[in-house]
Amino acid sequence: MKTFFSNSQKLGFIVFSVIISLYLISYNSHPFLSCKKEVKTEKKDTIAEWKVPDLNTIPQDEKGDLIRLGRYIFIHTYNYIGPDVKDTAKRFTGTNMDCQNCHFKGGTIKYVLGLIGVYNDYPEYDPRSSKVISIQQRINSCLMRSMNGRPMPENSEEMNALVEYIKWLSSLVPKGAKTLEQGLPKINLINRAADPSAGKIIFNRYCTTCHAENGQGVLNSSSNVDVKADSSQGYNFPPIMGNKSFNDGAGMYRLLMATSFIYSKMPYNAADLTLEDSYDVAAYINTMPRSNFPGVKDDYPDLLQKPIDFPFQPYDDGFSEVQHKYGPYQDMFDMGEKNNMIKID
Ligand code: HEC
Ligand code: HEC
Repeated sequence: MKTFFSNSQKLGFIVFSVIISLYLISYNSHPFLSCKKEVKTEKKDTIAEWKVPDLNTIPQDEKGDLIRLGRYIFIHTYNYIGPDVKDTAKRFTGTNMDCQNCHFKGGTIKYVLGLIGVYNDYPEYDPRSSKVISIQQRINSCLMRSMNGRPMPENSEEMNALVEYIKWLSSLVPKGAKTLEQGLPKINLINRAADPSAGKIIFNRYCTTCHAENGQGVLNSSSNVDVKADSSQGYNFPPIMGNKSFNDGAGMYRLLMATSFIYSKMPYNAADLTLEDSYDVAAYINTMPRSNFPGVKDDYPDLLQKPIDFPFQPYDDGFSEVQHKYGPYQDMFDMGEKNNMIKID
């Protein structure tokens, strides 16, 4: 029988197919491997260095004034859009916390939700809403969830200032390039459910010295504040529990996210907890009462995109809400569910 290909061509084709398959498997995107795909992390951009622009490079003009205002709002949020500012129309956050309580030092620090390079990603696909969102919508998302507030108008001066500041933070990152040190460090999975009662002991031993008895935080005295604005009652130590803290729609309410944050950054300046202790204390603080985000049940309408530690049903995988909240996560992970907080060794 006549054939169109020689044996060596056939062999070449087989070798080629195997290489392509291995490549796809290594990127977790082989069509037969799993249907759970993380959209955000699969983008392949040029990698850029983590370069924090110098404050002295902010221009001395109107644009520069807006960047400076945005920076002040970011680091003294309560002074501009907090729940106690005089102009009631500007009360957007539901707590006197600052953006930098989570995005340390104005969002400039690696691996602690730093924002260097982030501006370049927007507009970006957001799995939580299953939509492409703008940087303004992303900021409002932190206002409504991490700061338990309400959205700011997208054309308000405060929003423009925050956007200009976040844009300036990325000014040394070339367009189309990505920094690798955004977000939080990935952690290994622990092969058991987190134990909030063990976490309570850790909390009392390692957290209350700063975050206070019930995790409600400690307010500043007005003398600590170096920026003049309406209110001087920001936090010296932000609340991590209760209705002045982030609400249950916030990223920090997810167990693996909070575990990673605590493991790598808390206690502040001496982050020496073990991963297991961090896991348990994260479970404890997220078991204690806090405000409810009304829209939380509608998050991740595409169930395939739901992170494994997102603690609200529905799911399409047969695991309970309790297991999604406290773990163990290994079985979910083995099923092909992904989570960008997990290290794959
Ligand atoms: C309680 C902690 C907390 C507070 C307070 C907070 N954020 Fe966030 N923020 C997060 C977390 C967690 C994420 C999500 C990181 C992820 O998805 O990997 C995030 C994400 C973001 C992003 C998107 C980052 C990206 O990689 O796309 C922006 C922009 C942002 N926050 C801005 C702000 C601003 C502005 C404020 C203050 C108005 C603020 N945040 C307050 C925790 C917080
Ligand atoms: C030495 C003081 C100190 C100790 C002890 C400490 N923290 Fe913090 N924590 C801080 C400070 C300060 C911030 C805000 C950082 C900033 O604004 O730059 C913070 C921020 C946080 C945040 C994010 C902001 C928020 O309010 O949600 C969480 C969560 C947190 N800490 C959890 C913990 C846990 C859990 C422990 C115990 C294991 C702990 N911290 C121990 C000082 C401390």
